[in-house]
Amino acid sequence: LQDDRIARISSAIRLIPDFPKPGIMFQDITTLLLDPKAFQDTIDLFAERYKNKDIAVVAGMEARGFIFGPPIALAIGAKFVPMRKPKKLPGEVISEEYTLEYGTDKLEMHVGAVQAGERALIVDDLIATGGTLCAGIRLLERVGAEVVECACLIELPELKGRDRLGNKPLFILCFSG
Ligand code: PRP
Repeated sequence: LQDDRIARISSAIRLIPDFPKPGIMFQDITTLLLDPKAFQDTIDLFAERYKNKDIAVVAGMEARGFIFGPPIALAIGAKFVPMRKPKKLPGEVISEEYTLEYGTDKLEMHVGAVQAGERALIVDDLIATGGTLCAGIRLLERVGAEVVECACLIELPELKGRDRLGNKPLFILCFSG
């Protein structure tokens, strides 16, 4: 049953209080990776949702989108495109800035990785303020791709990142908590 799989995935994600600083409850997906059945179910659930949707590109955000994005891409027959923190990609890049709690950061994508008109899915482990996903959407739309949906395992609803995505669809796999 789908619900059993989601419950098992949710319970395999470990909560660590006060990391990386006091008052933050960190959602640690590394414990999910230690459970091959739950990890496989995670990939299967995303793949079931996105197969046969004519998705050519799965874009994953550094770093944890690099864990979930590639197996989803392989499962649905799409290419994987990494969106990296600045100065990591060796080729020509385009970049988009996004705001953090204090200051800004940037995400970069290789020019030529995605073609105009390609249908794209963005994958990350978690949406907090939504800044990271918004930067990813902007990168893909700048090259003329169509962002079909953003997909995460976890949402922190109190941070209202979903609102920042505007009308872009957001799919969350797990129950929060
Ligand atoms: C975390 C998380 C998302 C992002 C979400 O990554 O994995 O990518 O924050 O936050 P937002 O919705 O407020 O933008 P982080 O920036 O910690 O990078 P890392 O995975 O490289 O440690």
